[in-house]
Amino acid sequence: PIPVITIDGPTASGKGTVAHRVALQLRFHYLDSGALYRLTALSALRHKVSLTDEHALSKLAEKLQCRFEGDQIWLSQENVTAAIRAEEVGNTASRIAVLPMLRHALVGLQHSFRTAPGLVADGRDMGTVIFPSASLKVFLTASVEARAGRRYKQLIDKGIPANMDDLLKDLRERDARDSSRAVAPLKPAEGAHILDTSELTADQAVDQVLKWYAA
Ligand code: CDP
Repeated sequence: PIPVITIDGPTASGKGTVAHRVALQLRFHYLDSGALYRLTALSALRHKVSLTDEHALSKLAEKLQCRFEGDQIWLSQENVTAAIRAEEVGNTASRIAVLPMLRHALVGLQHSFRTAPGLVADGRDMGTVIFPSASLKVFLTASVEARAGRRYKQLIDKGIPANMDDLLKDLRERDARDSSRAVAPLKPAEGAHILDTSELTADQAVDQVLKWYAA
C-alpha cells in the first residue's frame, strides 16, 4: 500500500510547516485538509449559501472544483491561494467543519491524494478518521502561549497589528470548538506519537517525524 504519514494537531501548532517540510524531504505528496474546509467556506460565502444549510453546504463540498499546483490553490478558474487565508474564511471553515454531512462529502477527495510514492496528510482527523491505517501518525501540539506567540510573530512580520490577549482568547475558542464537536473531534489517533513543539524549532520537529518514520 502507498505509505501515509498523518500529522494532526490544534490551530497554530506549526503542523502545516512541519508536514510540508516532511513531504518535501521524502518527496511525498502533501494534503492540506484544512484548505478543503476553507475552499468549501469560500465557495459558500461566494454563493451566499446559508451556513446552517447542511444539505446545500455538503453539495458544495461534494462538487468542489479545486486544484493544487505547488503552493497555489485554484477554485474553478480562480487562483484563491490568498483568498482562502482571510480571517472570515477561516472562521467560516471552523464553523461548517462541525457538520457531519459536509465532512463526509470531503472524504473521497481526501483519499484521492494518496498516490505514489506517498502522502503526508495535515489536519485534525487525518489519523483518526481519514487514514486510520497510516504508516505513521503524529499528533503535534504546543502550549497555547507558544502557539499564540508564533501567530503574533507571523502577523507582525506581515505588518498586521496584533494583540496577544486577543490571540490567546481566539486560540482557546478554536481549541474548544475543534475538541468538543460531536464528529471527528480533535484528539490523538490510536497509536499516534505525541510531539510537543513548544520548545522545538520547525526543523527539530521535522527531524523527529523523519526519525519515527525511518524506525
Ligand atoms: O488556521 P487553522 O490552523 O485554524 O485552520 P486550517 O488547518 O486551515 O483549517 C481550517 C478549519 O477547518 C479549522 O478551524 C478546523 O476546524 C477545520 N478542519 C477540520 O475540521 N478538519 C481537518 N482535517 C482540517 C481542518
